[in-house]
Amino acid sequence: MAIRLCGMNSEETMTLTKEMVASGCVLTWPEEWRGLLVDKHSTGGVGDKVSLPLAPALAACGCKVPMISGRGLGHTGGTLDKLESVPGFSSRHSPEQMLEILHSVGCCIVGQSENLVPADKILYEMRDVTATVDSLPLITASVMSKKVAESLSALILDVKFGEAAQSPTIEDARRLAHSLVSVGVSLGIPTIALITNMDNPIGHCVGNSLEVIEALKCLEGKGPEDLRELVTRTGGYLLWLCGQAVSDSQGAEKIAKVLDDGSALQCFRKMMEAQGVQPDIARSLNSNSNLGNASHIEELIVQTTGQHVYLTHNGSLSLHRYDV
Ligand code: URA
Repeated sequence: MAIRLCGMNSEETMTLTKEMVASGCVLTWPEEWRGLLVDKHSTGGVGDKVSLPLAPALAACGCKVPMISGRGLGHTGGTLDKLESVPGFSSRHSPEQMLEILHSVGCCIVGQSENLVPADKILYEMRDVTATVDSLPLITASVMSKKVAESLSALILDVKFGEAAQSPTIEDARRLAHSLVSVGVSLGIPTIALITNMDNPIGHCVGNSLEVIEALKCLEGKGPEDLRELVTRTGGYLLWLCGQAVSDSQGAEKIAKVLDDGSALQCFRKMMEAQGVQPDIARSLNSNSNLGNASHIEELIVQTTGQHVYLTHNGSLSLHRYDV
């Protein structure tokens, strides 16, 4: 709370980040993967399911993606919560298991653990219930400790601003982006940040299992244009940063190709199988898969315009559609 109220200077923020990394292990990778290890992290939003199609799309392009993600934080959704709506999915994997999955599939999406940035696991859960989420130094240390522990060749940050973001104004988002990028670069990771709007949900669906379904649509080469654009553009920048494309636009074309030809979907299914989903379920996952039904909605507060918002409770499939 003291940090939330008083802030920290860049040296203090850097020290906190390094100490959080040192609370666990730093992942190591085979020499032949040098240059190929990439990741993207968002500062959090509503309906932000970009990581779900992006990690396998990058793997389908030949990259290695050891993504350490988070759960819901404040009002923003969590990648791990979304993936757990697929029966059997586990986000708990040791560094050795991650290495194996990266060998066989090319990407994995895991959570913090006793081995991996345990300090962030504790602080993350604590911030969620103590009104200390929207703090520039705490967000910086939280995001960057996970990314530094991954030993990356390149990183892109999607820094959100707007009514549903942690940073309400573009100026706040710029400050956060500068803080994140300067920590990344100082710790040896080529890092860039996009500043993107979060006044409306990304895509048409909000709610854990619905977001998985929408991510599967994107992996089938379909789905909402704004989601596909974020996936192809962030992926395009990463492919360019790690030398797999001559420009970000050529990188974006490569990502679009693996979404359209089914190879990213195959990587997603393999990642699901490698992370605990029964082979028959994993191998048949598609946008018509039944991931369960919502029993009820506890509370509904929607402030948006021109969107169809699908809502779920407890991460199961929505029964309701709201035109607002
Ligand atoms: N994502 C994180 O990992 N941490 C934050 O504090 C915000 C977004």
